[in-house]
Amino acid sequence: MNLWKLLNTNNKRTLFTTPTHSQKAPFLKELNEFYKRDLSEIEGLDNLSDPKGVIKQAQFRASEIYGTEKTLFVTQGATTAILAVMKAIIRPMDKILVARNCHRAVINGAAVCNADIDWIMPDIKNEISNNFGIYGAINPKDLENQLKLNDYKAFILTSPTYEGINSDIEAISKICKQYNTYLIVDEAHGSLYNFSSSFPKTAIQQGADFSVNSLHKNAGALNQCALLHVSKDVKNFDFDIIQKTVNLFHTTSPSYPLIANIEETINFLSSKEGLKAIDELVLNILSFKKYFLNTGYEFLEGENHDITKLFIKLKGLDGNKLSNILSEKFNIEDELNNDFGSLFLTGIGTEKSKLDKLRIALLKILDMKLELNDEPNADFQPAPLVKIQPCAALYAPYTYINKEDSELQISADSIIPYPPGFGVLYSGECIQEWHMKYLEDNVRVIKL
Ligand SMILES: Cc1ncc(COP(=O)(O)O)c(C=O)c1O
Repeated sequence: MNLWKLLNTNNKRTLFTTPTHSQKAPFLKELNEFYKRDLSEIEGLDNLSDPKGVIKQAQFRASEIYGTEKTLFVTQGATTAILAVMKAIIRPMDKILVARNCHRAVINGAAVCNADIDWIMPDIKNEISNNFGIYGAINPKDLENQLKLNDYKAFILTSPTYEGINSDIEAISKICKQYNTYLIVDEAHGSLYNFSSSFPKTAIQQGADFSVNSLHKNAGALNQCALLHVSKDVKNFDFDIIQKTVNLFHTTSPSYPLIANIEETINFLSSKEGLKAIDELVLNILSFKKYFLNTGYEFLEGENHDITKLFIKLKGLDGNKLSNILSEKFNIEDELNNDFGSLFLTGIGTEKSKLDKLRIALLKILDMKLELNDEPNADFQPAPLVKIQPCAALYAPYTYINKEDSELQISADSIIPYPPGFGVLYSGECIQEWHMKYLEDNVRVIKL
């Protein structure tokens, strides 16, 4: 019996338990089907924080499917999974190395763990970065040079990135093992990797110690459905601690429909229909791209790129302008854009008809004979100047000053454009000239 089936039968019992809505929507009747299954830890439904029954079995099946020691279900997004993994291995004042384009959950994790962060910048000296204004992969050589300098408890990076750039996790994991540094891969955007050879191997298959997936990002699950994977090969690690640290951050009232949704998503992805759906998605994207040959549009692509993330540019047209035209004239919304192009995310649920709409709109834009400009230079943030570590910065006293006087002062605030959700400036770092375009007239700075 799986959880979803149990949710469909248990709602027939008379429950004086939380939630007390009696499995009926008192308003918003459209949510009735969800309410019907919105149960909690009643008999037979197990307990996510101490699973012994149906949830334990589902997580065990998941660990077999992913080839992990443990795969835990998290109904609060990859954000919570990241906090839990960090707390499981990082002790106060441990040094950790973090790729600068990591999601803000990682800096929050550093604050929670009282860790000392050093940053490593992703590669920007490559054709993709030049051509699309986005970060490249983490260069294993840069990583090795950094690991030689200090004892780092963990190295944390995002792969794939929002735009689909994969780092060479196999090379990175070998280096991390050599230096006794745990490798945590934020694979939030790579939820399909376990299920198709159209993608790179998963981070865990390539030697990462821990990874997280956001099943809601492209695997067809509801928002907040996520997984935390622990490799069978983690050294010097108490496997029981991970449940304890998940419990530190996880609500004691997790949504049962979401837990069941996680289980069903994995069942679907590993079924014949799921594999077929992924194959179809990839084929549809390949044929979508063929329409743009010699049109002036360019796609971010390459050996280390995840094809489901369509970063598209029309040379000479600001990505923001492209995005506005698509939104205003065609009712199409992108995920994010920059000076170069626009990112369109696809996944389970992206049918050919949806891609057709985008294709037709993009081709119609060509007929608009828009004025095209010279390409801008890619503009990346400077290496951060860290003065105060995230935990101390949280409590540091601050004052307000004028923006004009703020250069080289220590920012009390973080600036995190979302998406993609990584900081251009974190609290505790010096404000540099480059940051001025993001600042308000009054700036909060830390008073030492
Ligand atoms: C790279 C990356 N990691 C983690 C997260 C957080 O994931 P979730 O929304 O599942 O908490 C995001 C969300 O945007 C992300 O882009």
